[in-house]
Amino acid sequence: NNNGGSQSHRDPNSGIQTLTSEITLPPQFRSALKIPQQLRPSRRTSDTDYYEIVQSEAMATIIPGLRTPIWGYNGTFPGPTIVQNPGRTVVVSHRNGLPVPTVVHLHGGTTPHDSDGYPTDFILPDAKYGTFPEMPAMAGMPTGTDPDAGITRQTRDYIYPEQPHAGTLWYHDHRMDFTGASVYRGLAGFHITHDADERSLGLPSGARDVPLMIADRAFASDGSFLYPALDPAMHSVPGVEKSSMKGVMGDVILVNGAPWPVMKVDTARYRFRILNASNARTYQLALQDSSRRSVGFTQIGSDHGLLAAPLPQDTIQIAGAERYDVVIDFNRYKVGDQITMVNLLGSGSTAVVMRFVVARATSDSSRVPSKLSTIDAISPTPAMTRRTMKFHRGADSWTINGRVFDPTYSEADVPAGSTELWTIVSDFHHPFHIHNATMHVISRDGRAPGPYDHGWKDTVFVSQGERVQLAIRFSTFKGRYVFHCHNLEHEDMGMMANFRIT
Ligand code: C2O
Ligand code: CU
Repeated sequence: NNNGGSQSHRDPNSGIQTLTSEITLPPQFRSALKIPQQLRPSRRTSDTDYYEIVQSEAMATIIPGLRTPIWGYNGTFPGPTIVQNPGRTVVVSHRNGLPVPTVVHLHGGTTPHDSDGYPTDFILPDAKYGTFPEMPAMAGMPTGTDPDAGITRQTRDYIYPEQPHAGTLWYHDHRMDFTGASVYRGLAGFHITHDADERSLGLPSGARDVPLMIADRAFASDGSFLYPALDPAMHSVPGVEKSSMKGVMGDVILVNGAPWPVMKVDTARYRFRILNASNARTYQLALQDSSRRSVGFTQIGSDHGLLAAPLPQDTIQIAGAERYDVVIDFNRYKVGDQITMVNLLGSGSTAVVMRFVVARATSDSSRVPSKLSTIDAISPTPAMTRRTMKFHRGADSWTINGRVFDPTYSEADVPAGSTELWTIVSDFHHPFHIHNATMHVISRDGRAPGPYDHGWKDTVFVSQGERVQLAIRFSTFKGRYVFHCHNLEHEDMGMMANFRIT
């Protein structure tokens, strides 16, 4: 592995402060890991599965003994998991029962533009909440009231055609200027896609195919989430100014909505779909056995599906919105052994993520074959369009090529299905994310890609001062989409731009 030295010497969280909870932090490894419910279709046709989700306020018990108000898909955090099977179109009808406008984005999805969750394609709040104060300022922007397209003021049907890769996607809120606040309150869930090739591999499946949503939070003394005010509905943290805001990190690490949980496992292989759904925090994950020896992961997938071949990784650096599919083989252990997932970039309470306890001896017929999928290499050619995107931290804003997000301005018009070479240049550290496209990392500072750049990506971490060259393959769905920093506070403060597929 050659990472050119560009990732290892810099702390990807430097400059970002961790909020301190006002509660006594709960003990670690006491809460059981929960697996988000798999959503059942409300209706099926020969080629389409229809789902219904109501976005609603709910009370959750996250910290034992405290109640936390959340915003949840079907009232849960994480939201229910949607599984998209081979050959199936998925239609999700979302109803907004929250006091604010919402937007649903399928992160990593290949979707028609009107189902992508453009940041102003609002589902309006339930009428009982009256007119939301920010709405007049957004007058003139599309509000989504085309009944023929399954859109009314409070509901919207999102149409997800069969996806090109079997992988770990996720859905989350994407409302312009308020994504951070909404996701922090709980609006995030998994959307997992399968295909026939993947099924034939014999990878761990069923109860041994486990999504892990890692997200940090801080808690107020009453149990509510602590978040600096960007949203009138949120309580405020005095003294936090937009200009000094570099991102929100909490001191409690949640996995699938539980603090530092523990999972009982069999002596078998498990596939874990690790998603970093944190607003701003990057993690360096490692596995340690009882004697704190590092035992490593077998990486099998990246953002957009399986790698060509399994890749042993000592640690995994995962920035906001990235996904790493890994296999951990607990067959190497005996009942009673404990394996702890730690965060080498954390300190104190954030240095630990969760624990596995080997609870049962079983037999296991799963495999990790040496060939997982075929990934066609993209090599730069002189014919490819080249663009440079400068990510810049200003005094009171976060910009791309000198602009804060402007829904009326297109930074790039790209032909449908084309591949372009984009260079991301940055004076701070940012997870770069693009919609409706898939990427290969070509180089970092002119050197070979890093150890975490394998496979198809939709989110790529860019270190402070780094130049990252990406080959971006755009989908054939035409229309207006966005690319942005996936540090959600940076995104909300303007670090986002349009491109058009033509
Ligand atoms: Cu996960 Cu445009 O976002
Ligand atoms: Cu950023």
